[in-house]
Amino acid sequence: MAKALIVFGSTTGNTATVARQIGHIFTQEGIDVRIQNVRTIKTEEVGRSFDITLLGASSRGNIDTIAFQEDFAPLYEDIRKADIKNQKVALFGCGDSTREYFCGAVDLLQEKIGDLGGIVVNESLRVDGDPQAALATIIQWALDVASETCQASAPPIQLE
Ligand SMILES: Cc1cc2nc3c(=O)[nH]c(=O)nc-3n(C[C@H](O)[C@H](O)[C@H](O)COP(=O)(O)O)c2cc1C
Repeated sequence: MAKALIVFGSTTGNTATVARQIGHIFTQEGIDVRIQNVRTIKTEEVGRSFDITLLGASSRGNIDTIAFQEDFAPLYEDIRKADIKNQKVALFGCGDSTREYFCGAVDLLQEKIGDLGGIVVNESLRVDGDPQAALATIIQWALDVASETCQASAPPIQLE
């Protein structure tokens, strides 16, 4: 059975809702899911012992800066300690498209995970406003990521 870790940081509960919705779809798809608030996870737990790690963070910037939801910021600062090189990662977050940097936290995460050699699967999910209004998009995204999660790695090429 494939195993997934979903870590989220959420101030008003939107990203937590999205994390639970994704977790629900993963469970339906037969994936063993652990959902964890970022406040309660050690950076070293993120990565290799899962087939995929999903990181979800809302954005808390202002006019000229991109900032993470406050609980998520320490994990971002520490992410080098996570074992994600060559590991599948998917990213999601909630934001407000009227802000200067819509879901800027997702953009920062995507860049950092790429720098560390993680494999970002699927286009990252950016939810604008109330997650309930984006339910169909979230479900489709979760199904796509679940499918990527369950795909076995290509077998090694046999040389004659
Ligand atoms: C002080 C403040 C700053 C924010 N900055 C941003 C931002 O830079 N970019 C963005 O997309 N959304 C921004 N938002 C919107 C939140 O990210 C959005 O409301 C989100 O749904 C909150 O999700 P959460 O409840 O999971 O924390 C900001 C909201 C507040 C209150």
